[in-house]
Amino acid sequence: MALADFLQQLDELAADAVAAFEAASDAEALEVTRVEFVGAKSGRLKAAQKGMGSVDKADRPVAGKQFNEAKTQVEVALQAAHERLAAGGASSSAKPAEIFDPTLPGKRPRVGHLHPITQTIEELKDIMGRLGFSVADGPEIEDERHNFEALNIPSDHPARDPLENFYIAAAERSHGKPLLLRSQTSTVQIRVMEQTPPPVRIISLGRVYRPDTADATHYPMFHQIEGLLVDQHVTMADLKSVLRLFAASYLGHNVHIRFRPSFFPFTEPSVEADMSWGDDWIEFGGAGMVDPNVLRAVGYDPEEVTGFAFGLGIERLCMRRHGVTDIREFYKNDVRFLHQF
Ligand code: PHE
Repeated sequence: MALADFLQQLDELAADAVAAFEAASDAEALEVTRVEFVGAKSGRLKAAQKGMGSVDKADRPVAGKQFNEAKTQVEVALQAAHERLAAGGASSSAKPAEIFDPTLPGKRPRVGHLHPITQTIEELKDIMGRLGFSVADGPEIEDERHNFEALNIPSDHPARDPLENFYIAAAERSHGKPLLLRSQTSTVQIRVMEQTPPPVRIISLGRVYRPDTADATHYPMFHQIEGLLVDQHVTMADLKSVLRLFAASYLGHNVHIRFRPSFFPFTEPSVEADMSWGDDWIEFGGAGMVDPNVLRAVGYDPEEVTGFAFGLGIERLCMRRHGVTDIREFYKNDVRFLHQF
């Protein structure tokens, strides 16, 4: 046989084998194909090997080399087909056409929805938007100036204890300064006032982090809504009105607000705000008039402007509204819980 004919035969054999192995759609079909190509007695490879004997002696080295290549190609295709079937797949060319039965009932895709906390955040933004507050954002990784210093929290204050905060590893510091996960959204008060001259009227909603042990009412990460209003002649009466309107809008009925004296380094005076709940009062969050030291820290003149600020837990609001009794439910990602909202 002429060398050229032999080589062409090998090419065809290899191409046929690759196509056939790819097309084999189950183990049985693959076995039939395997016997056809690499069967020890009458496989096409065996036949080609025999055919080599009729090639001119001088051409045999070339023919032999080509034969080995074709053989490898066939073996690789066989191996690939084995693996494909073992993995349960079928090559696209071999996939039996899917049978479409238009009389079967359809499968309705399950539509998800926003997480209850996200829903609450959207609603709170909406309510405060109607009261003229725009939304400001701040980073969750903060420096000590924004989380503490400008908020009038001195370095010996217990709130700055490393055990009360998530400090970031020393290597990640910013210009050698410590960084931490913000423990309150009050950081955004500072960031906004640093950037904008008064008046300001903003809310900021987001995550805060504290190394608390998780239980029914605590979680090391939760969400706060911060409010800040600075202008001329702002008084505590404005604070109380805003909080009352806010609570009434969110809970959908007439609520009363009660202030109890409290202390925060960045407000003076400071209060705990409670709201009426049936015959009870429930704690709502911290608030107060912005401390003159804070106004000075951002370059405002406390003789010119005054302001109020408040910080409320978003989970707590959402739990109240929906009767959720364990904060941990929000973070389990259990659809049986989530789909109820
Ligand atoms: N940042 C305070 C806290 O996390 C709440 C607060 C905000 C109090 C604004 C007063 C004014 O507990």
